[in-house]
Amino acid sequence: MQLFAPCGIQGVEKPSRRSRTRPWPPRIPQIVAAERTRSLSATCRAGHDFVAEGIAEGIGCKVRSGLIEPSDLHSKQPSGSELFTTAFIHLKSSRMTDPFSKSRALHERATRSIAGGVNSGIRKMEQPVPLYFERGSGSRLWDVDGNEYIDFATGQGALLFGHAPRGLADAIGAQAHLGTHWAAQSELEVEVAERLQAMAPSAERVRFNNSATEVVMSALRLARGLTGRRLVLKFEGHYHGWSDEGLVGFAPPPDRWGDDEEPTRLHPSQGVIPEVLDQFVVARWNDPAHLRRRVDQYRGQLAAIIFEPVLCNTGCMEPVDGMLATIRELCDREGAVMIADETITGFRFGAASAQGYYGAQPDLTVFGKAIGGGVPFAALAGRARFFEPIVRGEVVHAGTLNGNPLCLAASRWCLDEIRALGANHPAGLQKLGTRLIAGLEKLAREHDVPLQPQGPGLVFHTAMLRPGEKAGPIRDYRDYIRRHDAQRWTHLRRCLLETGVRAIERGLWFVSLAHTDADIDEALKRAAIAMARHAQEWKP
Ligand SMILES: Cc1ncc(COP(=O)(O)O)c(C=O)c1O
Repeated sequence: MQLFAPCGIQGVEKPSRRSRTRPWPPRIPQIVAAERTRSLSATCRAGHDFVAEGIAEGIGCKVRSGLIEPSDLHSKQPSGSELFTTAFIHLKSSRMTDPFSKSRALHERATRSIAGGVNSGIRKMEQPVPLYFERGSGSRLWDVDGNEYIDFATGQGALLFGHAPRGLADAIGAQAHLGTHWAAQSELEVEVAERLQAMAPSAERVRFNNSATEVVMSALRLARGLTGRRLVLKFEGHYHGWSDEGLVGFAPPPDRWGDDEEPTRLHPSQGVIPEVLDQFVVARWNDPAHLRRRVDQYRGQLAAIIFEPVLCNTGCMEPVDGMLATIRELCDREGAVMIADETITGFRFGAASAQGYYGAQPDLTVFGKAIGGGVPFAALAGRARFFEPIVRGEVVHAGTLNGNPLCLAASRWCLDEIRALGANHPAGLQKLGTRLIAGLEKLAREHDVPLQPQGPGLVFHTAMLRPGEKAGPIRDYRDYIRRHDAQRWTHLRRCLLETGVRAIERGLWFVSLAHTDADIDEALKRAAIAMARHAQEWKP
């Protein structure tokens, strides 16, 4: 890969001979703006070589090669000429030009043993190559090439407490010495269940699984068992795991999605039992009147309405006024089960999750991700009477690893941490997120980049508006597809990644309780460099 920037200079740090005895240091490509000025300044961390070569109009010009001492930081290069106004910087060797060379090599190797080289299809989206990581700590993450990131992907939102928090590691470690798996009961599982009861008012009873995909399967089976009906209403663009059922209506292509009133039931995967589609009704998100009409078409036939309280798997769309209340009202009227999928919002939006934050009252709730702080743990929670078919054994719920003690130990630690934050949660997290949003908005304005962050700060999405599209909240999946320029976002995301800021491939950002104000400052400093590069390089 060639890192270059017109009217600028860009290079990478390599570890100095002296620093080789230390662990490989964070290595972030440094962009040094020449920006039509007459001087060129180079910034580089102390103790690292900065290797770059300036070439202008065919004239090779060595800018710098050597060890940067602390006193050299921000050293001015004696250019003093127009030479650099059109400078392109070529890095010296191909090894030096690719900050992801080890990830690239590992990925190539992985494709010979792991199908497609990744263990979840979405990970293939990472540009320029799926990254391979070595370790994480708090807000930071290091890949195998030694690149350090301020991480806002945080394990797809699971790491509410950041990377490898000491208490969580200790809790899992202590449990590992007592036993990793019993496939039987333990006091631990009662303790976790009681904590959930205390935190979410709707959680009168719970059952555990190891992924939210499984919990959604349980919830839908339970709803059908309870009502004796088969149809489930779900919203376009909402994601409920990767099972046959969970993916219905997720990411339909515009040429096949049907008219606004009757969204088509589509599935993004082949190999699905075709009849699965017939078990669903799809509605658009955030249009209570449309939802009402859609439910009216299926009077007396719905087993459940399932939804993400904040749509986080397509942009980041909070429910409009009346949306959650309309779902409640229609479920009551129809005798259908209201299922809140809080896999992302659970515990991130406070101890009582999004249902507490927005004042919703679901019958069943899916918890995942933050409930385990990064271990494979998920829970179905809900009103006691809704669990009766499971209690009677009429609806089957099972799993060898359900209530696994390692996961329970982790979850108990996570839930205790949330409770210890008291009224500070989610306000503290939200403050950090809204600062980050405001900073990104300011940078976008300065660089004339049509970036539109949207979301309540606890999680948010950065849409890139297509040319001619007006700013303003994105309301549903169709609005998102029409207005968001995914290709342009991918370019900015890569610029961010190469300056050490990691957001989720599709544009979602998660702050964690490990992030600090200093992290946000540093992230914005890096984002300024990325935004400048994107503005210069992006060609539609
Ligand atoms: C809202 C929602 N539901 C369900 C799932 C599936 O969770 P898991 O990947 O743990 O199976 C996800 C995963 O991202 C999700 O965001």
